[in-house]
Amino acid sequence: MWFALLVSCCLLAPCVHSEPSEWAKDFPACGGQKQSPINIVTHKTRLEPCLTPIVFEGYTQTLNVTVQNTGNTAVFELPPSLRIRGGDLPDTYNAVQLHLHWGMDDEPGSEHTLDGEQYAMELSTEENQKFNQVIQALGRIPYNGNTSIVPEFRLTDILPSLEKLSSYYRYSGSLTTPGCNEGIIWTVFKKSSFISQQQLMNVTKQMRFETGKPMIKNFRPVQKLNERTVYKSTAVFLMSSGPVFLCLCLFCMFVLTENIF
Ligand SMILES: *[C@@H]1O[C@H](CO)[C@@H](O)[C@H](O)[C@H]1NC(C)=O
Ligand SMILES: *[C@@H]1O[C@H](CO)[C@@H](O)[C@H](O)[C@H]1NC(C)=O
Ligand SMILES: *[C@@H]1O[C@H](CO)[C@@H](O)[C@H](O)[C@H]1NC(C)=O
Repeated sequence: MWFALLVSCCLLAPCVHSEPSEWAKDFPACGGQKQSPINIVTHKTRLEPCLTPIVFEGYTQTLNVTVQNTGNTAVFELPPSLRIRGGDLPDTYNAVQLHLHWGMDDEPGSEHTLDGEQYAMELSTEENQKFNQVIQALGRIPYNGNTSIVPEFRLTDILPSLEKLSSYYRYSGSLTTPGCNEGIIWTVFKKSSFISQQQLMNVTKQMRFETGKPMIKNFRPVQKLNERTVYKSTAVFLMSSGPVFLCLCLFCMFVLTENIF
């Protein structure tokens, strides 16, 4: 049974003092059996015909979005007018936030891995101009607790195009920061977003952890799958006979709250 958890940003805050391997001492859920992120072994994923394309509502809206340095990542607050449905989600959900993870310069930094490979928010030699507004905003929030506005922000600027988002994996996992609450429906898109190495360096030069050190490798290592099954959407299945895939990379985590309207 999938279910959504009502969470807010404050759950993400109190965490950076210890290494991920130590989290379970303070937050027992972090040692649970359904933790995220995971390595997705594609040939072991199970086709689930109910995983139809996800419908994003308000995806093309232009918004002034607040972004905050939470000491271990950059969190974007998304307005309730952005909604997600379809894809076998039991209801319509409001998007609440998304956050980014990255590696170091040209090293990988994605949280989830696909067949063991990790991607550094995938690097390309070409600048992704659509990301510049976001990068500039990250430059304005170097320290823990700093906030800024990304003006004229559109989700379409940082996510791959809609039709590419119909290929995804689905499993039941957790938040990737303490308290590691389980019951999170993870949707991991197969398609990457690209930014250039220069752009990534720009981010890692500017953002700082709570400790004041450069914010690099702000991801939790992969966790054991245990008894869980990872499902794949029909689009993954249909497309897997096609040519090479670019893999997922911008791992956005939508924290979902049940739509009460
Ligand atoms: C975003 O902020 C600018 C400047 O404050 C304002 O002119 C604009 O109307 C805002 N846009 C939205 C969609 O709120
Ligand atoms: C980072 O990128 C922004 C725009 O994308 C630019 O204004 C800024 O000068 C860059 N900073 C560095 C340190 O490269
Ligand atoms: C960012 O945070 C630092 C450290 O808390 C603080 O000194 C600084 O004033 C903040 N800057 C902004 C623009 O809020």
